[in-house]
Order: sequence, then structure tokens, then C-alpha cells
Amino acid sequence: MKVLQERIRQEGLILSDTVLKVDSFLNHQVDTELALQIGQEFKRVFGHLPINKIITIEASGIQFAMAAAIALGVPFIYAKKKKAVTLSEAVYSAPVHSFTRQEEYLISISQKYLGSGDKVLIVDDFLATGAALIGLVDIVNEAGAELLGVGCVIEKSFQEGRSLLEKRGIPVYSLARIASMAPGEVHFIDNNPA
Ligand code: G4P
Ligand code: NA
Ligand code: NA
Repeated sequence: MKVLQERIRQEGLILSDTVLKVDSFLNHQVDTELALQIGQEFKRVFGHLPINKIITIEASGIQFAMAAAIALGVPFIYAKKKKAVTLSEAVYSAPVHSFTRQEEYLISISQKYLGSGDKVLIVDDFLATGAALIGLVDIVNEAGAELLGVGCVIEKSFQEGRSLLEKRGIPVYSLARIASMAPGEVHFIDNNPA
């Protein structure tokens, strides 16, 4: 997605070899026009599939899951992050290991809103190590729902997330794929359709 690549080049802050900050338009302050365009792009890629629900994880996946949900005309659910297991209702949950924070946390979705009839698209802001996304995949499987694909806004292709998902046979599409980056220099990979 050209307009997204340009914004990353112009406004992305490369904090290290592996961390890209996009707080001015995606991750803290949000350019809503761009977010809606991102939703339309996910519709272009996944719109031919019989998706009836989109899921993501709080916090920074929410605006893109919502944009995609608006474009596809379906609801979205964001998994909640919980430390404790004291939950007031029946949930599907999965542990996620955070490499950045070196801790384990639980993500959960109420059993009321996801089940065996659902055909799901997962949407998130970053595809990095894939740890959080694999947690969501586990939840979809636990619910007996069908996973039709994973759509991410930015993929750091030099990390292992994509291959972990593809190993499970999941179609992955990212709107901007970064092969490598250094201050003042971002190299993108050309996209193939999902
Ligand atoms: P993932 O590949 O499945 O996202 O999992 P990973 O455990 O690698 O990423 C941990 C968190 O860090 C995720 O946010 C992910 O979006 C974010 N992240 C990974 N790499 C980058 C990066 O280069 N830049 C930025 N800005 N974020 C990155 P999260 O746990 O979902 O938390 P939240 O920020 O959405 O609340
Ligand atoms: Na994030
Ligand atoms: Na995220």
C-alpha cells in the first residue's frame, strides 16, 4: 500500500534495528482517514471471503480491526489482556509471551461472541514475532471457528511471525512489509496477493 509506505518513510522513527515507532499516525495519534483507507485495502484483499467476524487484540489493533469491519460490514471483537484468571464469564483464553516485556499474559474473548459458526479474519497493527497473533489463532481454534486469514498493517519480515503463521497454513497479508530498516532507510518487500 503505497500511501502507507510513504508515511512510514516520512514519519516512522527507527529506534533500533528492530523497533519502528509510528506514533504520529498509527499507534498513538491516529490518522483516521488513513485508518479507513487501510480498512478498504483489507476489504480489497479479503472481501471475496465469507468473513462474518474480525478479531484483534487491545489496544493498537482496534482502530484497524474497526476500519476493516466497517469496510466489510461485519462486527469486530478485541481480545482483552488480563493478568489474573478471575473472569466473570466463560471465556476462551490463550497465554502470550511478550518478548519486549519478558512476561507472560493472557488474552481472552467471551464465549458469547465467538463460536463454531464463525468465519474469522484476524487484523493487527504489527506482525513481528507473531506471539500475540498465535494466541489469537489458538482462541479461534478453541472456539471451533474457522480462520480465513490474517491481515496486518505493518510486517517486519525479518522477524519470524509470518513463517509461524504460514506453517499453520494460514494466509497472511500485510499492507507494508519491511525487509530491513536503519535510521533514514526503510526497505520494503513487494506484496503478493493473499
Ligand atoms: P505480534 O508479532 O504477534 O504482534 O507479537 P509480538 O509479541 O512480537 O509484539 C508485541 C507487541 O509489540 C505487540 O503489541 C506488537 O504490535 C508490538 N510491536 C512489535 N514490534 C513493533 C514495532 O516495531 N513497533 C511498534 N510500535 N510496536 C511493535 P501489543 O502487545 O498488541 O500491544 P499494544 O501496543 O497493541 O497494546
Ligand atoms: Na502494539
Ligand atoms: Na498490536
